[in-house]
Amino acid sequence: MPAASARPSASHGQSLRDRLPAFPWDKLEPYKKTAAAHPDGIVDLSVGTPVDPVPELVQKALMDAADSPGYPTVWGTLALRDAITGWLERRLGARDVTHHHVLPVVGSKELVAWLPTQLGLGPGDKVAYPRLAYPTYEVGARLARADYEVYDDPRELDPSGLKLLWLNSPSNPTGRVLSKEDLAGIVSWAREHGVLLVSDECYLELGWDADPVSVLHPDVNEGSYDGVVAVHSLSKRSNLAGYRAAFIAGDPTVLGPLLEIRKHGGMMTPAPTQAAAVAALGDDEHVRVQRERYAARREALRGALLGHGFRIEHSEASLYLWATRDESCWDTVSHLAGLGILVAPGDFYGEAGDRFVRVALTATDERVRAAVARL
Ligand SMILES: Cc1ncc(COP(=O)(O)O)c(C=O)c1O
Repeated sequence: MPAASARPSASHGQSLRDRLPAFPWDKLEPYKKTAAAHPDGIVDLSVGTPVDPVPELVQKALMDAADSPGYPTVWGTLALRDAITGWLERRLGARDVTHHHVLPVVGSKELVAWLPTQLGLGPGDKVAYPRLAYPTYEVGARLARADYEVYDDPRELDPSGLKLLWLNSPSNPTGRVLSKEDLAGIVSWAREHGVLLVSDECYLELGWDADPVSVLHPDVNEGSYDGVVAVHSLSKRSNLAGYRAAFIAGDPTVLGPLLEIRKHGGMMTPAPTQAAAVAALGDDEHVRVQRERYAARREALRGALLGHGFRIEHSEASLYLWATRDESCWDTVSHLAGLGILVAPGDFYGEAGDRFVRVALTATDERVRAAVARL
């Protein structure tokens, strides 16, 4: 019965499309073609995907764990939980972190996209995130059919119906960092109104002109993890985007039920990735080396953009420069594509970004030199 079976699948397809925003990167394709036609090749600074090698000790740990025939656990090995709690205390200054305060996830994007659903949010519940933001916060709300709202300062939101408040400091796309005082004020506002605060801190180790602080720091949360969860990823700090290694940490009364749901859902980090994450979290030296690479690229690109007539706002941390020529972002994208340089238009991250472009630091030194020469 082909006709009868075709109809339901077509309507399912439509309802899925209604739940998702348009995939914006397709709009960049013509500019990518233009940039690729440059005689010396494209410099792609659009997507922030790491290009430097996976640290040797991490590759070795992955290979040593290659013989992993059994199912991995959702909560992670004891070694992984120890590595996470150790890192949280050592690098973020968090205190009294137990295994009940941590939960591995399969890269942070899946967590961001599915957290509202896994928390049981739905129509009538509200999710809020920054006016300029990583698009997956909206995707997550839409997948849960929850309502969503953007903010400039979360303390100005109407808290009624607000169930999940996303923070992202350092920010993608602007590189803005929230001060310790602001974070503390937002934590206390969220607690006062019974709103779960989830802080996406995946760029925390990439501060340049600022020293980003975690919501897990006692100066921010008054020594309590009530109502507070932080999201961390190894994708950027350890070049592990291809491994899918991330975790959340904070309020055990939130993480406990999430662990149960994720067990039922089979959301397991592969065992070799877990072993690789243990090695990565135990080593600060490769992070220092990687930071130096990004710092040098940032200085070179920053100088070249300023010299070319750009203004740069925020960008005190993260892997991006948030730059403008005070014109439509698409005019800037087009201008740079003519020089063989591809960047992301600011309106991908919200309408408020429509006069900015996001320039990623994730290209090789050779490609960054090429961009600087062209500018
Ligand atoms: C703000 C933010 N959160 C989360 C992610 C997802 O990172 P991953 O899934 O690699 O951990 C990204 C990736 O670019 C990001 O910019």
